[in-house]
Amino acid sequence: MDLPREVRYRPYEDWSTEELAKINNNVKKSPWHVSYHIEPKSGLLNDPNGFSFFNGKYTLFYQNWPFAAAHGLKQWVHTESEDLVHFHETNVELRPDTKNDSHGAYSGSAYEIDDKLFLFYTGNVRDENWVRDPLQISAWMDKDRNITKIENVLIHQPKDVTEHFRDPQIFNYKGQFYAIVGAQNLDESGFVKLYKAVNKNVENWEEVGNLDFDNSGSEYMIECPNLVFVDDKPVLIYCPQGLDKAELDYRNIYPNTYKVCQSFDTENAKLVGASDIQNLDYGFEAYATQAFNAPDGRALAISWIGLPDIDYPTDQYDYQGALSLVKELSIKDGKLYQYPVEAITSLRDSSETFADKAQTNNTYELELTFPANQKSELLLFADDKGNGLSLTVDTKDCKIILDRSKAGVQYATKFGITRECTIDTKETTANIFVDNSIIEIFINKGEKVFTSRIFPEAGQNGITLKSGDVTGTYFDLKY
Ligand code: FRU
Repeated sequence: MDLPREVRYRPYEDWSTEELAKINNNVKKSPWHVSYHIEPKSGLLNDPNGFSFFNGKYTLFYQNWPFAAAHGLKQWVHTESEDLVHFHETNVELRPDTKNDSHGAYSGSAYEIDDKLFLFYTGNVRDENWVRDPLQISAWMDKDRNITKIENVLIHQPKDVTEHFRDPQIFNYKGQFYAIVGAQNLDESGFVKLYKAVNKNVENWEEVGNLDFDNSGSEYMIECPNLVFVDDKPVLIYCPQGLDKAELDYRNIYPNTYKVCQSFDTENAKLVGASDIQNLDYGFEAYATQAFNAPDGRALAISWIGLPDIDYPTDQYDYQGALSLVKELSIKDGKLYQYPVEAITSLRDSSETFADKAQTNNTYELELTFPANQKSELLLFADDKGNGLSLTVDTKDCKIILDRSKAGVQYATKFGITRECTIDTKETTANIFVDNSIIEIFINKGEKVFTSRIFPEAGQNGITLKSGDVTGTYFDLKY
């Protein structure tokens, strides 16, 4: 949604109670609210931020501008979870209220250090000529959830970087703290800077160098870089905006990608043995994925189910965006797998053998098996006129196609109405999570993932198997 700058950067305290009540009433009117995913109380949700383990619980913030479905003066909204499935908002926010984050508390990460949570983020600052000064800044959150900002800027814009310099991720590698920051160089190519905490003091950083991960530089900016260790292999997850489609086939406005690497040479700022670049997700929207290594060793990831610069059907109700389920990462045969954490099965309520259903409440999981050497087609969000979201699993021609053109309110169609990926000829499984206006499809327990929004019209809530010998189970999900 396009709104004038004066509205988008209006101070939080200037919004009146009446204005807020009006926004909240409008949000309530939407027919598309989700039940077991995170969505904003109001306004726009974008990146997951500060995903971490703190004080015996999981902490997760989301980026938010609370006043309409537009990118305005961003804050972080705090949530907590014990099981990575149920998240609760705590009414704590990291507000853009100092001179170092005057134009937004942009994305960043968190790490528990000595009983406090260190928040490392980008302060978006602009001067009166709207020239940006991106500052990498920090705050500490204590166990009572009080947030204290550190006045010193921890990292200033380096000489070889444009104003596009943001999203610090802190991580601990072999007892030493490092951080990576997304950047654009003076030739307008994307890259990533690597820093090291001096004497393990996370308020004092020195540059190690530009991270070498065999990147082509065909993108113009890298946002939201994350380095996570999966089965001891470093995996770099990042958002290369403007990536050349000859390098990687993708349809969304911006891709979210990854490389699996063999080792991390910290001295030379090098990810050794980086694979080719891969799509993290094949659906219509998954972006700004944030991942971290939990104390129990698991590599956990969560994505924004949304994209920058896209209008959504919920905008009219003054909100936009949601977060994905939390996914555990693993590597099999050199490939990255992403699958919801085990605790997600706690949402399963009643179950029945998979068959057509004229009506559901659009809140369910399907666990399906598609036979080898056969083309199967399934309609979800189906109505009685034969419309629906079409999922073709073709183990003969080795591809999966998701077609959104015959279900839901159409949007972003200039980026295409289908998404696809390749598969093998062999028997294929799919776990499909439907949550009113979200669908997450996990092929072969996470070998390929399709994450998407869909905004069904009234009566679009059935399941129809159009072709194929598909077997499996339908689970009602209860939050
Ligand atoms: C990605 C992003 C980040 C930035 C944030 C601002 O969606 O552009 O790079 O920190 O959103 O909201």
